[in-house]
Amino acid sequence: MKKSENIVKTIGQVNQEQRESLIKQKACTFWFTGLSASGKTTLAYALEKKLFDDGKLCYVLDGDNIRHGLNSNLGFSAEDRSENIRRIAEVSKLMNDAGIIVLTSFISPFISDRELAKKIIGEENYKEIYVSTSLHDCEQRDPKGLYKKARCGEIIEFTGISSPYEPPSHPYLKINTANTAIQDALQLIITVLK
Ligand code: PPS
Ligand code: MG
Repeated sequence: MKKSENIVKTIGQVNQEQRESLIKQKACTFWFTGLSASGKTTLAYALEKKLFDDGKLCYVLDGDNIRHGLNSNLGFSAEDRSENIRRIAEVSKLMNDAGIIVLTSFISPFISDRELAKKIIGEENYKEIYVSTSLHDCEQRDPKGLYKKARCGEIIEFTGISSPYEPPSHPYLKINTANTAIQDALQLIITVLK
C-alpha cells in the first residue's frame, strides 16, 4: 500500500475531553486477548451490558464479527492478523476519541501487534485483559468445532495448534474463565478499574 504525501491533518473545534464530559464518562479500550474459545467474546459482551446498565456508552469490536465486514479481506496469516489488529487499534482510537468505551475481543496472538495497538490507542487508554484459559480447556469446549477441524488439518494456521499464541507478560488483568465465573470476572474488572 502506498501512502500519499499530500495529506494534511485538520483539528476540529470539539475535543475528546469535551465529548466525554457531554456523556459523563472517560473513554478507554479494554483489549481482551486469548485463545479461541477462551471466553473473550462472552466477557466483552457481558462487560458491555454491565457498563451500559450503569449508564456508560460502550461498543464491542469482536473478531468474528469484524471479519464479516471491515476486515473481510483478511485471513489468518501472520501478516493478515497484524493488519487485522492494526485496523482495530485505529478504529478503537477513533471510538475513544468520540468518547466511547471500547471492548475488543480478538485473539491478537502476537506481542508485537498488541504493542502496536497499545501505541496507537495510547498507553493510558489501553487496558489489556489476558483471558488465560488453557489450550486444553479451550479445546475441550470447542464450541464451533474449530479445534477438531484444526487437529485433522482442515484448518491451517489455527492458533494454539498450528499457529503460535504469545501470552502477555504484564497484562492489566488476567482471567481464566475455566475457574472464574463470568460475574466474578466482571466484578474484578470493575473493581480494578475503580
Ligand atoms: S486474530 O488472530 O486476532 O487476527 O483473530 P480474530 O480476528 O480474533 O479471529 C478469530 C476468530 O476466527 C475464527 N477462526 C480462527 N481463529 C484462529 N485461527 C484460525 N486459523 C481461525 N480460523 C477461523 C475463530 O472463530 C476465532 O474466534 P474466537 O472468538 O477467538 O474463537
Ligand atoms: Mg469470540
